[in-house]
Amino acid sequence: MNVGSYFSENSKTALKNEPPGAWMPNLPDGCIRLSSGYPDPALIPAEGIKAAVARLLDEEHDLPLHYLGSPRMARLKQQIQRRLAERGICVVEEQLLITSGACQAIDLIARILLDEEAVVAVESPTYMEALEIFQNYTKQIVSIPIDEKGIQTDRLKEMLDERKRKGLTLPRFLYTIPTFQNPTGTTMITERREHLLELSAEFDFLILEDDAYGELSFDKNPPPIKSLDKSGRVLHVGSLSKVVAPGMRIGWITGDSAFIKALEWFKKDLDHPFSQSTMAVYLENTNFEKRLHLLKDVYRAKCAVLLRALEQFLPDSVSWYVPAGGYFVWVRIPGVDTSELLSQSLAEGVSYVPGKYFFLNQKDGTEFLRLSFSYANEKEIMEGIQRLGKVIAPF
Ligand SMILES: Cc1ncc(COP(=O)(O)O)c(C=O)c1O
Repeated sequence: MNVGSYFSENSKTALKNEPPGAWMPNLPDGCIRLSSGYPDPALIPAEGIKAAVARLLDEEHDLPLHYLGSPRMARLKQQIQRRLAERGICVVEEQLLITSGACQAIDLIARILLDEEAVVAVESPTYMEALEIFQNYTKQIVSIPIDEKGIQTDRLKEMLDERKRKGLTLPRFLYTIPTFQNPTGTTMITERREHLLELSAEFDFLILEDDAYGELSFDKNPPPIKSLDKSGRVLHVGSLSKVVAPGMRIGWITGDSAFIKALEWFKKDLDHPFSQSTMAVYLENTNFEKRLHLLKDVYRAKCAVLLRALEQFLPDSVSWYVPAGGYFVWVRIPGVDTSELLSQSLAEGVSYVPGKYFFLNQKDGTEFLRLSFSYANEKEIMEGIQRLGKVIAPF
């Protein structure tokens, strides 16, 4: 039986892309994981979640295990609304949809906004999983370079002007990770956030703001683009994966209520009432500000160790951006193809993600690699960069 013959044309096209997760190699035993954008294992609140599950089932018995879940799911929404309000995003219940992580949020948005003819604009480089999602829906992806101040909005304007002049389709939305970007760790300055909003009004596109790392600042939290949005053009996506636990799969979308209604139409039961109820209890029992403080302290210190190790163990020709939050440091090694170097690096016992996976045009990423300071501990980070230094030394 030729299974492929049953697939829709859309799926056949999507299945020609690189398989998902190609950037994640099999890691040898003892390999230091500087590739993983996972939270620090010591910061996953396993005991807190265990206590939340016990309390939930003691108090509500079978309720959270039904399709409709527990009344606490509404409280999770309220807790998220409260956190968003603290960051200048004031939304009513109809403007908020809980999803199975930020990834489901991105996928749902792509699903309702994109078709083969639709154009989506992304930053270059950008989060590889979002690229994969968009490629499942359209081939028409355009990218705009970013620098240490975020997306280059003047380049975006040039691209939009040119497409308009040539009568080409304009993007339906632009996907951006403005704060502590994955993979570069950079943060878009406020002027560019404002310019982006102006351009979205002038050229009539939406902004998909992925704020997965927005609360993880080492110093001050910049204002989310959504908090500056007066016209309802921004769909803001958030997640508890990086600040609580990714396995809980809790994310959300805020936006105009008509969008949220359409997204809900497609999402239906594709989420997890039990996980949402558990998270609601966990948050009720947790001083979240205190927790955030701890996370920021830990990640700030680990980032500092990584930066120090880069100075100490890598040649002077190597450069990187210094992040002000998040999980990542973006490194450039001139003249080196980082995907070719990976097998040597793994043999030496340290992993990273080659830059090519974050680019639409993979060649643009040849000399780059993404390091994560979130998962490994300080000692491993130091050791990992020392190992990487050995691999790079001959070049
Ligand atoms: C920019 C960005 N968005 C979204 C996600 C996925 O978040 P979630 O676990 O909530 O699906 C990640 C995870 O690495 C990410 O880096």
